[in-house]
Amino acid sequence: MKICLLRTLQTLFPCFLVAGLCPIPAAAQIAPVSNPQLASKVLNGRVDALLKRMTLDEKIGQLVQYSAGYATGPGASNLKYDELAAKGQVGSFLNVIGADATNHYQHIAMEKSRLHIPILFGLDVIHGHRTTFPTPLALAASWDSSAIETVARMSAEEARADGIAWVFSPMVDIARDARWGRIIESAGEDPYLGSAMARAWVKGYQQDDLSRPDSVAVSVKHFAAYGAAIAGRDYNAVEMGEITLRQVYLAPYHAAVEAGAATIMSSFNSINGIPATANPFLLTQILRKEWGFDGFVVSDWGAVAELRNHAIGDDAAVARKALEAGVDMDMEGNLYGSVIAAQVLTGKIPESVVDEAVRRILRVKFALGLFDHPYTVPGPAYSATPERRAVARKVADETLVLLKNEPVEGLGDLLPLTAKARKVALIGPLADNRKEMLGAWTVAGNPKDVVTLRAALAERLGDRLLYAQGCDLLSGEDANLLKRVDFIGGAAADEHLPIPDDAKTIAEAVEIAKKADIAILALGESASWMEGEASSRVHLGFTGAQEQLLQAVVATGKPVVLVVLASRPLQLKWAAAHVPAILEAWNPGVEAGHAVADVLFGDVNPSGKLPASLPRAVGQEPLYYAQMPTGRPAHGDLSHIPQNAGEKFMSRYMDEENSALFPFGWGLSYTRFSFSQPTVSRAEVPVREVLASGKEPVTTVGVDVKNTGSAVGTEVVQLYIRNTAASVEQPVRELKGFARVTLAPGERKHVEFPLGFNELNFYNVEIKRTVEPTTYKIWVGGSSLATAETELKVVE
Ligand code: NOJ
Repeated sequence: MKICLLRTLQTLFPCFLVAGLCPIPAAAQIAPVSNPQLASKVLNGRVDALLKRMTLDEKIGQLVQYSAGYATGPGASNLKYDELAAKGQVGSFLNVIGADATNHYQHIAMEKSRLHIPILFGLDVIHGHRTTFPTPLALAASWDSSAIETVARMSAEEARADGIAWVFSPMVDIARDARWGRIIESAGEDPYLGSAMARAWVKGYQQDDLSRPDSVAVSVKHFAAYGAAIAGRDYNAVEMGEITLRQVYLAPYHAAVEAGAATIMSSFNSINGIPATANPFLLTQILRKEWGFDGFVVSDWGAVAELRNHAIGDDAAVARKALEAGVDMDMEGNLYGSVIAAQVLTGKIPESVVDEAVRRILRVKFALGLFDHPYTVPGPAYSATPERRAVARKVADETLVLLKNEPVEGLGDLLPLTAKARKVALIGPLADNRKEMLGAWTVAGNPKDVVTLRAALAERLGDRLLYAQGCDLLSGEDANLLKRVDFIGGAAADEHLPIPDDAKTIAEAVEIAKKADIAILALGESASWMEGEASSRVHLGFTGAQEQLLQAVVATGKPVVLVVLASRPLQLKWAAAHVPAILEAWNPGVEAGHAVADVLFGDVNPSGKLPASLPRAVGQEPLYYAQMPTGRPAHGDLSHIPQNAGEKFMSRYMDEENSALFPFGWGLSYTRFSFSQPTVSRAEVPVREVLASGKEPVTTVGVDVKNTGSAVGTEVVQLYIRNTAASVEQPVRELKGFARVTLAPGERKHVEFPLGFNELNFYNVEIKRTVEPTTYKIWVGGSSLATAETELKVVE
């Protein structure tokens, strides 16, 4: 009764009892309601009434999902899907796209199956659907939640028109290791930025109302800590302490759940010895009991069956473990469909466990309105309309990060190009490649919609543009690699044959460069083959002969602008030392060429900031700014060490700096910004007050930001803190606020950042979020190197 009352209060006042609002340990709290729509009494009444009428086979059918289109993983089944749908033995399909294809199965389910339960169609809508936007890592570089909401909303609209009511997005895994190919799908290395992005994705897709005809249910993935795969090797195990797990890795998932996420996808990896797909601690204790998640959990592709490879049991045992741990739907694995029923009939699995999983799935189907509107009305093809292109261009403009821009003799700062660009040589394998601009994970995007950099520069320069491909993305020496990237039987490998003659094409490119005033090199890695899932790398440089090409063009003495087209932090050490201007452009989507040209020519002043650190060397990975302190910091206070200790016994590499080549938060502009000395509205706050503050601020950090240059520009003002005296050591810096601020030349604006329990807390050894008496150092600036400093004291 008491619990019911609390739950009702929670529904009415969502901030009631949110972890931290009162100092109750997280684990002991009453679970909040994550999505009031899924908790609705009326909806649950409909679910229960239907459940009562279902046979065991029909119930298990709801727990089964098949890929009935192309494959997005290994070993896709090829079953008689019409028959299964008619028998009510499939709850969901993935990879079926379009009104006709989805309606085909839906008609069977609605008209031929006994209980007329609609099928839920899911798809990897990752960075756009028909209209492809920049990759998620690129979008995070905008530090613009509203841009991400817009992308998600448009994607939802397009997906829904194609019969898709459920998207396998957002991917909110913290990614601190550039070797891991899936870093492209993430918001990068930071839990605060990652949480902000996670909320924006969920809000944009679901629009706080799943029943809208243009909303889709999200699947937040991959739960949990998939990004911390040991050695950056995809699908590898994860070992991690619980404090780091909760404080860093779980934060964005929690933010997504609080934003109302309707479903979650469990991850492939094990964590501390327990596979995430059979992990009751993650899927039941944390997700449902602590966070109050009301939606359902789907496994990743084949992950229930793959539990056998984790050697934790036979088919029956692993399916039971997954279901009992809290995986409600089996994606493309077919184990639930074949081994659950017998275990229920023999009493090994209580039927109530199956019932609960079915309930969770049906809730989402009801909330999406599928029972009332199961079919998709064939509508307009959304792809690349002028309005959508305009949004795609504006969003892409914001994602570009100017890493370096130095003066060149006689020209001043090399960028923007404007009048300096009389004759331009555009060189590189990514200068005129449509497919690669779409990025690693576009399912329904069309390369034909892409404007390449060559096309965009030709619009501006006409015959003042010279072009040479220079080399290919892979060279002849990469024969083994060609085999690995190919998962559909030869097609991908064939595309790159015959083997390129790099020496010849590089020589041609050098001749082109010599004829021009400026050379623009468009280099990177293959997004479609070497980024995303199953695309881990141990070398993070440019692939193939690209670095040789770059060096050969730089050797001509012509000023070089390097445009990096890759959605993972590449190792750019040589380029950073020898090329005057570098633009990190990621994979910008359909408006790639226009967006890059906008920035190169100064129509748009770059404002993107790195969401992930760029390494000097691969050996630094995993690399991130929020490092834990060490007793022997490389550049710290050495006063306690005898004077003759030298540099040897420090936490550092013998052969490289510790720091990133370009750190988190980094990004230049064509103007300059200055920051005043920040101030805190209250410099001392009693700890009790902070503990009780929850999402309310107890103090505010204020700073004046001024545009001291001569162009209008947008600065992403960033606030970092350091807890200098906690019972558990804390990172040397942590992002706790950011704001995009646009300023005219000479203009100054005052920016304020609230600080309360939410920003100041950490997990103590009892795994409780807390705040203790301490001093927080606070920095404000334009990157994680921010120097404008103040402090806040939390007192007894
Ligand atoms: C495997 C991937 O890990 C996941 O992100 C994706 O959503 C599913 N396959 C479905 O394609």
